[in-house]
Amino acid sequence: MSSSLRPEEVASVIQKQLQSFTEPLKLESEGTILQIGDGIARIYGLEQAMMGELLEFPPQSSGDPVYGIVLNLEEDNVAAALFSRSQHIREGDAVKRTGRIAEVPVGTAVVGRVVNAVGQPLDGKGPIAYEETHPIERIAPGVTKRQPVKEPLQTGLKSIDSMTPIGRGQRELVIGDRQTGKTALLVDTILNQKDADPPVHCIYVAVGQKQSTVAQVIKVFEDFGAMGYTTVVSATASDPAPMQYIAPYAGCAMGEYFAENGQHAAIFYDDLSKHAVAYRELSLLIRRPPGREAYPGDVFYLHSRLLERALKYSDELKGGSLTAMPVIETQAGDVSAYIPTNVISITDGQIYLESDLFYAGFRPAINVGLSVSRVGGKAQTKMMKEVAGRLRIDLAQYRELASFAQFGSDLDKATIARLTRGERLTEVLKQPQYSPMPVEEQVAVIFVAVRGFLDDIELKDVKAFETQFLPWLRGNYPQILHTLKQTKAVSDETSELLEKAVGEFKSAFVAGETSSELPTTEDKEETELPEQTVAKEETAGELHDLND
Ligand SMILES: Nc1ncnc2c1ncn2[C@@H]1O[C@H](COP(=O)(O)OP(=O)(O)OP(=O)(O)O)[C@@H](O)[C@H]1O
Ligand SMILES: [Mg+2]
Repeated sequence: MSSSLRPEEVASVIQKQLQSFTEPLKLESEGTILQIGDGIARIYGLEQAMMGELLEFPPQSSGDPVYGIVLNLEEDNVAAALFSRSQHIREGDAVKRTGRIAEVPVGTAVVGRVVNAVGQPLDGKGPIAYEETHPIERIAPGVTKRQPVKEPLQTGLKSIDSMTPIGRGQRELVIGDRQTGKTALLVDTILNQKDADPPVHCIYVAVGQKQSTVAQVIKVFEDFGAMGYTTVVSATASDPAPMQYIAPYAGCAMGEYFAENGQHAAIFYDDLSKHAVAYRELSLLIRRPPGREAYPGDVFYLHSRLLERALKYSDELKGGSLTAMPVIETQAGDVSAYIPTNVISITDGQIYLESDLFYAGFRPAINVGLSVSRVGGKAQTKMMKEVAGRLRIDLAQYRELASFAQFGSDLDKATIARLTRGERLTEVLKQPQYSPMPVEEQVAVIFVAVRGFLDDIELKDVKAFETQFLPWLRGNYPQILHTLKQTKAVSDETSELLEKAVGEFKSAFVAGETSSELPTTEDKEETELPEQTVAKEETAGELHDLND
């Protein structure tokens, strides 16, 4: 009973305890290796070790330290995976606890650097002058700290920004078979952040890829000046599985730093299928029971806890954001396999890439019918919303009719007009690699297409029309693009002016006067023949009707 407790007694007991206190942690901070093989060590004597804690193994002959990460806490031993090769480590060797959970350098020091999964430099540019480190694993902030996405993350790709827009803080999956342009899509998105306002720090995490592929991507970043705001975290196929396993978390910690400080960051996981495979390898080696497709039972949690860390902070917490674009590779378009369905259910939408489209020359090979963005629409600019609505409807109608039209021969006028429109829109959505487009130019081009100005242009000339139109517009009507950029809306005046500009350009284009030399405002008067313009407007009349 509490009444029988006397304070003097309690105090003396505590005092005695304190006198005999001998830092038991010190004694337990070293363990012995019971068994080692395949990069997994079982260690005895580390009862106090934490899940995810870093352990220090005997250094390599070169003197480089060897670290491992605790993955299993069992009754009489712990299992740890080593981050580097371990031929020199033997049974009975001593292992030290570090008392630290795995952490990586964060902040501006890592910008422009290529690092491995534990944040060590790989680019030969010397040590990273960091001021802060963050643990790689973090509990994702709760709902009260967040708000819905509201600013767009422009990818610079017409088909994405118009139809599956991405908001800052969103998680948008890129899914497709091998060699369908998944990496290309991410790279273009990163290149497009060059003039992003407010700026977006990019983190490209390469997991389980070939070294040469990663080197190529880095070269592109360097050539296009994207390294100024990008960090590459690389754990290639030749790196041990634990490195591949922690690389996405390490990159995420780097991105989180910016989001926490009210800035914007975007992280690209290329790709999470290989990440899951690395985790499966680890799990099987530490003898966790295999489940579906031999993945361990917690493989959903592997990705959910990672992707949950992408967010848009509330205004009270400075409103920073971390956008995540994970990649999943499918086998023969099978999106119902285990890992694809998991990641689809965790993300806010997916961009679906198809081999058939890719080989048909429709690149980026985005299936616009199957791709969705569940939250990004809220963040889309008003001007893009205005033109993209029409685009979506026209394309949906086209898809429906196109499959029919393969069989029928005599089609009515309206059907032909819809097919014509759809073919041209599809053509306009094609975009070469490394040429992301500012959103106001995308709007101008899509405006031209959905208003039917391309309907009477030969299909093979549509791409030429587009590539010549934009520089011409910049040269002759800079105010249009300027107004679009400033106001982010297509006002009636802008719309009228744009129609007038397209009309002018089109006459010159059809007359073949634009390819060799772009007409300027001064000599436009001489080159334009009023009769020609009138004649063309008549032929285009039927197609214009569709817009009404
Ligand atoms: N929009 C595009 N226009 C032209 N070529 C493209 C386009 N996008 C990608 N490619 C080309 O297609 C090839 C495959 O692209 P990429 O490597 O991005 O595909 P991936 O899906 O990432 O492949 P993997 O499965 O091997 O990772 C590359 O040679 C790339 O240059
Ligand atoms: Mg790739």
